[in-house]
Amino acid sequence: MAKKLFIRTYGCQMNVYDSSRMADVLAPLGYEPAEAPDHADMVIVNTCHIREHASEKTFSELGRLRQIKEERQAAGQQTVLAVAGCVAQAEGAEIMARAPFVDIVLGPQTYHRLPEMVARATRGSGGVLETEFPVEPKFDHLPEPSAHGLTAFLSVQEGCDKFCTFCVVPYTRGSEYSRPVSAILKEAESLVAKGVREITLLGQNVNGYHGDKGEGLGQLVRLLAKIPGLHGLRYTTSHPRDMDDELIAAHRDVPQLMPFLHLPVQSGSDRILAAMNRQHAASDYLKIIERLRAARPDMALSSDFIVGFPGESDEDFQATLTLVEQVGFAQAYSFKYSPRPGTPASTMAGQVPEAVKEERLAALQDLLQTQSRRFNQACVGKSFDVVLERRGRHPGQLIGRSPYMQSVYVSAPDEMLNSVQRLTMVTAHGNSLGAELTSELACA
Ligand code: 5AD
Ligand code: SF4
Repeated sequence: MAKKLFIRTYGCQMNVYDSSRMADVLAPLGYEPAEAPDHADMVIVNTCHIREHASEKTFSELGRLRQIKEERQAAGQQTVLAVAGCVAQAEGAEIMARAPFVDIVLGPQTYHRLPEMVARATRGSGGVLETEFPVEPKFDHLPEPSAHGLTAFLSVQEGCDKFCTFCVVPYTRGSEYSRPVSAILKEAESLVAKGVREITLLGQNVNGYHGDKGEGLGQLVRLLAKIPGLHGLRYTTSHPRDMDDELIAAHRDVPQLMPFLHLPVQSGSDRILAAMNRQHAASDYLKIIERLRAARPDMALSSDFIVGFPGESDEDFQATLTLVEQVGFAQAYSFKYSPRPGTPASTMAGQVPEAVKEERLAALQDLLQTQSRRFNQACVGKSFDVVLERRGRHPGQLIGRSPYMQSVYVSAPDEMLNSVQRLTMVTAHGNSLGAELTSELACA
């Protein structure tokens, strides 16, 4: 009989990818997706550790799941409860101790062994803790990926050796590992055969990709672009240090590569960039942007920013605002610095008071929002191929993604769900666009 699996995912796209791969690994055991945890025979919480309150959030979620597990138990139903992802990796032993009702704690590198862990957990031989970094990469042991719709993630690289002083990723995801080119091409071909038209290549340091014959990400992109039927390619997240000539040239030569890049700079101050161990200056970032725009004039940019890093003065923060003015971002994410236990920055002198962080965050977000509104406004009147991937709240409304990752709302027949349509942008909002079918406009 089919069993039900519910996965709650927090954090980055890598976690979204990992969650869907965990579902793939468990499918042969008869697990099908559940709508809610109360109907599930197995619940996985896939956690994120990058910013504050991660572990408290995990424990309060586990408290709610404990109740569901006990209610189901009283009704004679078993629930396997697993915690995965970066909080599991960082605090596995503590989870086992504080939440003994959890059956499985597994790190991001071990989920190919889930079937065996489930078997051990359901035999009732106590909690299972699997957080080591195995010698053999999990990718060699994963089944073919399932695909739903026209877009998919494909993990090409994992881990990070950059050791930015604020970041937990090098500790939770381990050192950099790139998958061989042949395995990536095979997975991409299989996704395209299942109807996928746009693939986002994932990695914590995706442009640090090194194939088995030394291929860089630019070369990988060129090889993937040869797959017939694959119309769109993206990659995330990149580091400015690894934006090499070959990758910039790919933006010029490969039409499938979307004209939108998320390239985090974190700060516009050279002093803070050095303290963050980012290994580049603000001017290096500006030069990269200039070269990318020369290669692909319609290129739009996105970034991550941290305000209130230890030692950040008003002048340093001003340098961040200046960089934002110079680049002009289509979209960006900004965060207050959060000291992560075990990272070098957490014990640095000059921790910035919360009130100052809040003030700076508000000022930066104000500027970034003005820029994204301006960018959205400039899209009005333009036509894009939009992947229609969801139904809207209103009847007859579909929602898609523009090449620039804005949500696009359109009135369109339901048969157009899961298709790519040429749409003309007619209205701009804070984070989204309203559109009409281009053919309708042409007839009007
Ligand atoms: N505090 C605040 N933001 C952080 N990020 C990573 N670590 C921290 C931290 N300790 C942000 C960075 C990164 C994004 C994924 O999360 O901006 O690019
Ligand atoms: Fe974290 Fe820096 Fe590595 Fe990005 S490059 S994952 S911010 S250590």
